[in-house]
Amino acid sequence: LASFGISAQWGFLSDEAPLRSFPSSFYAPWDDLIRDLPSLITSRSLTTRVNALPQLTASRLSSDVELRRAYVVLGFIIHAHVWGSSGPASAPASTPVAQIPPQLSEPFLEVCDKLGMEPVLSYAGLCLWNWSSDDGTFPITDGDDGFFPLEQLRSVASFMRTRGEDAFYHVPVLVEAEGGPLVKILLDAVGEARISNSAPVQAALSASAAIIAKMVKHLPKLYSTLDAGEFFHELRPYLAGGRGMEAKGLSDGFVFQRGDGSQFASKHIGGSAAQSSLFQFLDLVLGVEHEAPEKASETVFQEMRAYMPRKHREFLEAVSQLPTLRSFVEARLSDTGLCEAFDECTKQLRLWRSTHIAIVSKYVVRPAREAARGSENSTAQRTEGADFEAAEGDEQLKGTGGSALIPFLKQSRDETTGVTRP
Ligand code: ALA
Repeated sequence: LASFGISAQWGFLSDEAPLRSFPSSFYAPWDDLIRDLPSLITSRSLTTRVNALPQLTASRLSSDVELRRAYVVLGFIIHAHVWGSSGPASAPASTPVAQIPPQLSEPFLEVCDKLGMEPVLSYAGLCLWNWSSDDGTFPITDGDDGFFPLEQLRSVASFMRTRGEDAFYHVPVLVEAEGGPLVKILLDAVGEARISNSAPVQAALSASAAIIAKMVKHLPKLYSTLDAGEFFHELRPYLAGGRGMEAKGLSDGFVFQRGDGSQFASKHIGGSAAQSSLFQFLDLVLGVEHEAPEKASETVFQEMRAYMPRKHREFLEAVSQLPTLRSFVEARLSDTGLCEAFDECTKQLRLWRSTHIAIVSKYVVRPAREAARGSENSTAQRTEGADFEAAEGDEQLKGTGGSALIPFLKQSRDETTGVTRP
């Protein structure tokens, strides 16, 4: 696992906590700018600071953890530059800036190349590598709330520096931390399946179901911390990439200006939870299959792999070559205990996906409907987590990841099935 940058305990969060500053003062201008980012946006002085930024090479970043920090810091500055140069992205007069100057472009492209990622802020930069705690380690307590209190995490980089913004990044971090042990447990189970050892496979599936159930419990923590209007109107605009943004004024997407005077335009999607390697791992190892959208050659999840760090993508490619636990269980349908353990796992994963749909309906679908109606005073909140009721227009709504949001999420949930027994 270590060679793929995965921790046996923390999974895709890795064993190394994100850095809160660069070890070398050479990168102090980046540290200073990211610290000041929220106030520079609010005071509409980001452009002045970006223009004053020296042209720094990324070649002095000497470890993975430094490269990750550079990806987070430069990614946040670039998205703020594009979407917030003329003030907060939610301000009526705010217009996007497509041109990204060389002092941001050059080091960002170099870092993305080294990490094997597309040049846009994705899930790893928003969530996996964007947390810190007071003592620099992952906070674990035995409080009533269970493990991993949200309150002890702070963002390394943020657009607004609000508790709501932090929660949006860190609820996924809690889910990843809780689910970290699944990687080893389920890979060991694949090993046991290879030598036809049913009992340890069943035990691993039962343990995994219990862990996924705990992952589900973290999701509602968002409700008390992040307001739907704050997310939809104030934070979400910064998360967009350069694809599908023609109507917002980005006809060529993000345009990276190079040091030699050339430039290239890139149209990439924004951050999406579908870029989480943990959930793709679960689907692959369990044998949950997703269908590609009409006319597409690959599934949304496969497309999202380009937005993951290279090591995580290579890990998923390796896992996809292994026999699935579903195939092992389907060859033993008379083993009731084994089938039930498998079904409990997929049931919890399905529950996670249902709970996620409820969150998306509160934070994206309803605010989008209200905005479409132009009803500024419509602040009616429904019961949190209440069943989602589809309305006309919702099917067209795109996620920041570019997929048809609700149909994609519902399809992914419905494809998360157990085994069919005679
Ligand atoms: N994918 C989430 C959205 O569309 C972040 O808002």
